[in-house]
Amino acid sequence: MESLIGLVNRLQNACTLLGDYGSAVPTLWESLPSVVVVGGQSSGKSSVLESIVGRDFLPRGSGIVTRRPLVLQLHKTEPRVEDYAEFLHLPKQRFTDFSMVRKEIQDETDKMTGTNRRISPVPIHLTIYSPNVVNLTLIDLPGLTKVAIEGQPEAIVRDIESMVRSYILKPNCIILAITPANQDIATSDAIKLSKEVDPLGERTFGVLTKLDLMDKGTNAVDILEGRAYQLRHPWVGIVNRSQADINNKVDMVAARQREHEFFATSLDYSHLAGRMGSEYLAKLLSKHLEAEIKARIPAITSLINHSIDELEREMSHIGNPVAVDAAAQLYTILELCRAFERVFKEHLDGGRPGGDR
Ligand code: GDP
Ligand code: NA
Ligand code: MG
Repeated sequence: MESLIGLVNRLQNACTLLGDYGSAVPTLWESLPSVVVVGGQSSGKSSVLESIVGRDFLPRGSGIVTRRPLVLQLHKTEPRVEDYAEFLHLPKQRFTDFSMVRKEIQDETDKMTGTNRRISPVPIHLTIYSPNVVNLTLIDLPGLTKVAIEGQPEAIVRDIESMVRSYILKPNCIILAITPANQDIATSDAIKLSKEVDPLGERTFGVLTKLDLMDKGTNAVDILEGRAYQLRHPWVGIVNRSQADINNKVDMVAARQREHEFFATSLDYSHLAGRMGSEYLAKLLSKHLEAEIKARIPAITSLINHSIDELEREMSHIGNPVAVDAAAQLYTILELCRAFERVFKEHLDGGRPGGDR
């Protein structure tokens, strides 16, 4: 049976392609759980994402690099399949060169925002297929910032904050709140904003990056053990590649190995080593996302039924030949919805727990 996360991804893509036909489909989209990455600029968001994927593929640079939401779907494939990536806006094109993925994200961003570094709320959808990933969907958003830099409109600071807020306000949004350990947690943008929408910390995962950059003689054990700032889920500590590592082309495999050693051999953190690091974080999030989807199957199924009704009504109203394209599109989505409904039901009626993994 297809994994629940894979199924929801296809449903999400179908909703996106359909756009805002009727009202049921957008509501359906909104109801699907997702993981959203939130943090201040340079807190390590891109590094965490690349670490979870195990590939270099995100644009880098100073200033506000991420200027459109990136919906990143990770799809675990059979062993020995070569990694590849696909964009929803380029359905026929398979990317095996990940530096071209980076370039396409950059070009697509510029296409929508101009090159004067504005931001746009229109997401880019990217799927990565690999035997080395867990099934997971993450949404990367522009980093929270305090000041606009040269050439950017002043309003960008507020615009980014309201874009982030619009995502994390949704009760089914799982918040991945990234805070660098070499900065006072009390000033963390990620924590401040997530606390506002999730005061009890029920759907927030705290991630502490840059543990290797803390002042000598200090450590983050109080945070990682949940005493300094309590969340319902455990905190995860991370050590990403430094800028020097990136310049020296330290690859992801070596970086993961070093991260592993950092925790295993640290006097401060070795007792926590089993639940630290990006590999652990990826598994934790995948498991949690799947459980969240499972808990929502009845609600999702009823929304799908609703969409089917609405789509059938739409179909019966399309009579004129001008709308032939629209009808074909509606028909495709309608068929997809019917298929989704069947598979979700199978999962609910005692499909293998956890789906295919
Ligand atoms: P973003 O702006 O939040 O996406 O942050 P980036 O992932 O681009 O990271 C900003 C800078 O911090 C880069 O130069 C990274 O190499 C560096 N960095 C991120 N995480 C860590 C970490 O855990 N340790 C060290 N030493 N550097 C890090
Ligand atoms: Na950055
Ligand atoms: Mg970034």
